[in-house]
Amino acid sequence: MPAMVMSNAGPGGAKKFEGRITIYVVMCGIIAATGGLMFGYDIGISGGVTSMDDFLEEFFPVVYERKHKAKEDNYCKFDNQNLQLFTSSLYLAALVASFVASKVCTKHGRRLTMQAASIFFLVGVILNAAAVNIAMLIIGRILLGVGVGFANQAVPLFLSEIAPVHIRGALNILFQLDVTIGIFVANIVNYLVSNIHPWGWRLALGLAGVPASMLCLGSMVIAETPTSLIEREMLMEGLAMLKKIRGTDNVDAEYEEILHACEMARQVKQPFKNLMKRSSRPQLVIAIVMQVFQQFTGINAIMFYAPVLFQTIGFKNDASLLSAVITGIVNVLSTVVSVVLVDKVGRRFLLLEACGQMLITQVAIGGILLVNLKATNELGHGVAVWVVVLVCLFVSSFAWSWGPLGWLIPSETFPLATRTAGYAFAVSSNMLFTFVIAQAFLSMMCHLRAGIFFFFGAWIVVMGLFVIFFLPETKNVPIDEMTEKVWKQHWFWKRFIDEEENKIHSI
Ligand code: BGC
Repeated sequence: MPAMVMSNAGPGGAKKFEGRITIYVVMCGIIAATGGLMFGYDIGISGGVTSMDDFLEEFFPVVYERKHKAKEDNYCKFDNQNLQLFTSSLYLAALVASFVASKVCTKHGRRLTMQAASIFFLVGVILNAAAVNIAMLIIGRILLGVGVGFANQAVPLFLSEIAPVHIRGALNILFQLDVTIGIFVANIVNYLVSNIHPWGWRLALGLAGVPASMLCLGSMVIAETPTSLIEREMLMEGLAMLKKIRGTDNVDAEYEEILHACEMARQVKQPFKNLMKRSSRPQLVIAIVMQVFQQFTGINAIMFYAPVLFQTIGFKNDASLLSAVITGIVNVLSTVVSVVLVDKVGRRFLLLEACGQMLITQVAIGGILLVNLKATNELGHGVAVWVVVLVCLFVSSFAWSWGPLGWLIPSETFPLATRTAGYAFAVSSNMLFTFVIAQAFLSMMCHLRAGIFFFFGAWIVVMGLFVIFFLPETKNVPIDEMTEKVWKQHWFWKRFIDEEENKIHSI
């Protein structure tokens, strides 16, 4: 399937990259994306495990007792700082790790960073599955977090760099697709092991070793990105790899462009310092804001705590885990929609459609709970089913928009000189706000009650407006031409780039 890929016309006229979608590039993409499985499995498993009686009785006896008191307030029975710390410690570790990973990524390549990720993760899994006290649990979670920080830094960058421009969105979203598959598998595991007493939770935590082993083995066979090879002055290897992944010898135009990007990057001795310059402001703001907004959709209130949430509204243990399995399927299938559409309809369309759908569903869920769920009653069966349907509609819109695009857009907007450093800000913002939501959600639910859904609804309005005014379209723009084709053309952001250029010319 030979394809002449048009990049947008540059100042010197139209440039063309030749290349086809090779089996090799797709295979590398699929293997690297298994890093998403580790992240996703973890998101799904912690909510399940923290609602299992055997686990609570062993490590969090206070929560166990409170949960079983018939008259405990519906909105408050899981509110416990230690329990939340179990879920959220991983994200703090990942936050710090992503900055270290950014350096490793630049110095030693994307592939080695992925390998390191899988090894940290595996050690964490062993500690968690064998835990006999809270310290082992938390240290294990911290190591899992380092693994996630490394993987989330390297995998999306790897995918964006190996992809031919016209399927960059789709290939990058394989990462998010694996995140959703990881969450879904975790939900099923939660459901199955909840009836294995008293060690079902150990099995659930131990199975996280499967995706980590897949990434560990997989990263031994995949390619390094041509960009990373050329950046580390392995020019011949980089050129050969480019030919291999594009399936043609005619890669001169793309090679030249990567070479040019690398030369520019080499002049930047301190990428983090460079990021603080005004001219980096557009990409930096967008990368951080995309991730913060992604978390303020409220998605993880649902992902981490789906079983807890469904128990809160009156489902019994099994039924609530089953409902979480259903939302898991919806999450996976809707991400496939994004893979298919993102390079056709573009990023902005998906984000804006989703804002509408998410707003309606959040407000509807909040309204239903406000009217029907008091402190100690249970929701009627019919009403509870409606809540599950609305949660599915919410999850589906997130899954084809803010979920994947929160990772895609920051990975494709930075010039090479600041790419890994800039992306580290995206990953760490994601981790920070995932931590904030994970740590605060159960307490917020206890205090705001149904109002929590209106809180997230208000954020969705803000993010919709942000997309309308400030988010440029990046569909089909070659990754190393973003500054010229996107930022210099945008009504608001262009002033940052222009001012910097004017400054240089007036010196
Ligand atoms: C987000 C996670 C979220 C997941 C849900 C990811 O993109 O970063 O926080 O749990 O999507 O599918």
